[in-house]
Amino acid sequence: MRIELTINGRRHRLEAAPSDTLLAVLRREGFHGVKHGCDTGECGACTVIVNGRAVTSCNFLAVQAAGAVVETIEGLQQSGVLHPLQERFAQTAATQCGFCTPGMIMAAKALLDENPAPTDAEVRRALSSTICRCTGYKQPVDAVLQAAADLRGEPFVPEETPAATPAGPEAPGAGPVLTKTQLKVVGKSVRKVDNNKLVTGRPAFTDDIELRGLLHARLLMSPHAHARIRRIDATKARLLPGVHAVLTHEDLPRVTYTTAGQSYPEPSPLDTRSLDNKVRFVGDRVAAVAAETPEIAEEALRLIEVEYDVLPAVFDPAEALRPGAPIIHDEPDCSGIGGYDASRNIAAEIHAQVGNVEKGFEHADIVIERTYKVPQVQQTPIETHICIARLDENNRLELRTSTQVPFHVRRIIAPVLGLRPSQIRVIKPRIGGGFGVKQEIIVEDIAGHLTLRTGRPVKLELSREEEFMATRSRHPQVLRMRTGVTEDGTMVAHEMVVLANTGAYGSHALTVQSNTGSKAMALYRCPNMKFECRVAYTNLPPAGAFRGYGGPQGFFAVESHLDEVANALRMDPLEFRLKNCLRAGDVNPLAEALGEGREGFEQRIVSCGLPASAEFGRQSIGWDDFRMPSGLQKRRGVGVAFAMHGTAIPGLDMGAASLKMNDDGTFNLLVGATDLGTGSDTVLAQLAAEVLGVQAEEIIVYSSDTDMTPFDTGAYASSTTYISGGAVVRVAEDVAAQIQVVAGAMLDVSPDDLELRDGKVFATDGRSVTLEEVALRSLHQANQHQIGAIASKMSYDCPPPFAVTFADTEVDVETGEVQVKKLVMSVDAGRIVNPILALGQIEGGMAQALGYAVAEEMVYDEAGRMVNPNFRDYRVFLADEMPAIVAHLVETEDPFGPYGVKAVAEIPMDGVAPAVANAIFAATGVRMTEIPLTPERVWKALQESRRAKKE
Ligand code: FES
Repeated sequence: MRIELTINGRRHRLEAAPSDTLLAVLRREGFHGVKHGCDTGECGACTVIVNGRAVTSCNFLAVQAAGAVVETIEGLQQSGVLHPLQERFAQTAATQCGFCTPGMIMAAKALLDENPAPTDAEVRRALSSTICRCTGYKQPVDAVLQAAADLRGEPFVPEETPAATPAGPEAPGAGPVLTKTQLKVVGKSVRKVDNNKLVTGRPAFTDDIELRGLLHARLLMSPHAHARIRRIDATKARLLPGVHAVLTHEDLPRVTYTTAGQSYPEPSPLDTRSLDNKVRFVGDRVAAVAAETPEIAEEALRLIEVEYDVLPAVFDPAEALRPGAPIIHDEPDCSGIGGYDASRNIAAEIHAQVGNVEKGFEHADIVIERTYKVPQVQQTPIETHICIARLDENNRLELRTSTQVPFHVRRIIAPVLGLRPSQIRVIKPRIGGGFGVKQEIIVEDIAGHLTLRTGRPVKLELSREEEFMATRSRHPQVLRMRTGVTEDGTMVAHEMVVLANTGAYGSHALTVQSNTGSKAMALYRCPNMKFECRVAYTNLPPAGAFRGYGGPQGFFAVESHLDEVANALRMDPLEFRLKNCLRAGDVNPLAEALGEGREGFEQRIVSCGLPASAEFGRQSIGWDDFRMPSGLQKRRGVGVAFAMHGTAIPGLDMGAASLKMNDDGTFNLLVGATDLGTGSDTVLAQLAAEVLGVQAEEIIVYSSDTDMTPFDTGAYASSTTYISGGAVVRVAEDVAAQIQVVAGAMLDVSPDDLELRDGKVFATDGRSVTLEEVALRSLHQANQHQIGAIASKMSYDCPPPFAVTFADTEVDVETGEVQVKKLVMSVDAGRIVNPILALGQIEGGMAQALGYAVAEEMVYDEAGRMVNPNFRDYRVFLADEMPAIVAHLVETEDPFGPYGVKAVAEIPMDGVAPAVANAIFAATGVRMTEIPLTPERVWKALQESRRAKKE
């Protein structure tokens, strides 16, 4: 049917089927700022304004909009000038990946149109219709309040952002004192280089490309947790008009690989096929279809006949390891390292010891033992996995895909597709969030197979339900802790035994669990340490990489446990931690003993901001003055947790950058690093600009494309600023030297006597030439050549960032309801390149970590089917549910990274859950050993404690 409506002030006559949503119609018309995130109106990425009201267009029928006035993000900019909301979102880390940004801005605009002077709470209520998985909502709320003030013509006085504080020399053990040299671009909160396109809804994401002849792919997924496919017949599906290809395991060569996007040789087991004759979890792939429309593809899925031999399934990791358990990978063509033994359902096994832990326990005055349990949780980027495959004009396969690891994708799927890596080009457009789940190769192989089969472009985009059920998640673990201390609070023995559940495939099984030991256990000095771990295959959806990568599990156990140890010693838990934690000058012994899927290297601690971070948090939360009122139904307590993470994988992560100078004195920086919304493109531009003596906007960053940019292992392991940034500084130094040679000839002085600053090259006598003059001379006038270079960086050092988290928490002892009132996190991430982006990373991590602590959990029925694969039942924190959050930076200077940087992206995930659990103990005297801290779980623990006291 034909409908007429006004979109952004212009009349449109559109064709729409009765079932078409407003989202589908708007995107078809080229309004790419309207994003697709869930189909159920829960994520809010598709929010537009209809007749003055914010609506989610994915569950709003197009016909309902007939005659309506519709506003989308594309209509906000007037004559090239950003709307105040767009401007304020662009100035800060309110826009990270940017996928939710148009929806948030439209929800905010609807509010401001009606209420020009909203309160903080009113803004939060309005934004709560949109899920942001990247920010902690603080910067988006501030952006809306600032825009409201702009629209009213009033100045806005923001709440004072806590300044970064240097650690030392008054903080003993901090390491070298930060030298505030005359840095001009590094250390400044410069505007992100890519924000304008995100706040205006420009086509930047994978799905925003328009291709003629595009086919739509859909996957048939297993209804059984464990079954063999006895018969599969796709004849009827293939005969359906509009169907171009149907693939089953009978149509593809059997190639075994891992979906874990890691460096060669991959430490994860090779245990996956694109399509197999066996299914191992509910949601495992059975067949794939490419058709003219998504509806025809779905109809074709219903026509595929499958007969299964259903096999016994196992979901509990302990049961999976028992003799006689169903064997999940009984096929002969799997292989692995690190204790891998598929015949016993073991994906990986790890043993590491320093000193002699049993002897250590003999010398202990107190030994505490306790078991902790952490859940399976999902990354939930708002943009689901999506890949568009096509054959280019040279018949090479081009994959435009939302990935964190374009170079690993190309290398790993080449044999799966029967191609050489050079026959594939992987292009990473803007990514709508990743958090580790896009370090997995989930959709690229199927899109590639279907394009090779049909010769047509094919899009495979997962639904929100598929994203939950069939991608990857955080490994659930059971952790048994045993710690021995002497009476004066010195740790003498420390042991962790982990049983992890990797689900049906062993993606990241060895490496995630190695981190659980090498990060969490090793934070404290102890001469005798032992870490043991077994990772079991089960018939649940697979686990994999998730921001924090084994740290959040380990720190929940260690930090809860040491709180108990401190209480047993009657020591202040903060003082106990400060007495035992690592300081500058120490060595992390487990780093070398454990490695990360390959040989480990000594990790020297050269800088440590823990004492300064603890001091900031102590003051901010009021640690010393906090008194628990007793006898009330609602009790309040404060908990603390320390954390340590890594900065890149030593001896493994490598990044490269190339840089060339343009006629006008600007530079093209090409990097294989992938910006997930963290702002790494901006940070890399700042690093190059600092060396070259220009502003960050003079650096045009392009990332990343396997044909165009140099190699990079990708965005994971908190490596980008350190590794890729190191490559950028090296290449910029090379280019700066080349500029000095040309300028030296122009000024008739030695290149060594020149300095680059303010877009010019200065001689010591004050004479100068501009970079544009240097570029024009080198390209057009004398000794013509391209000023440019390429450089790489790898490091054997892994300078750890540190963090201290405090949680002020209220517990209703009658209902078990837990309300976190205030979270404070102070982070030592070395020198900070861009403070506002770093704070955005910390705030966003705090929100995700809070979900891990109190709300998020993948829940299954007895048949292994996930029962909450949607945002309604899987609870992600919304703007109006967040507590007050204070993020703070303690700056140290580490000699290994460029300008002294360390990582910031992952460490915020580590400390929130134990800090909240410790706060519950402080409030109620009840030790919570399992997360999430739901009212039901807390209520049960309170009841058990009361019962035990009566007995
Ligand atoms: Fe909100 Fe990424 S910026 S989801």
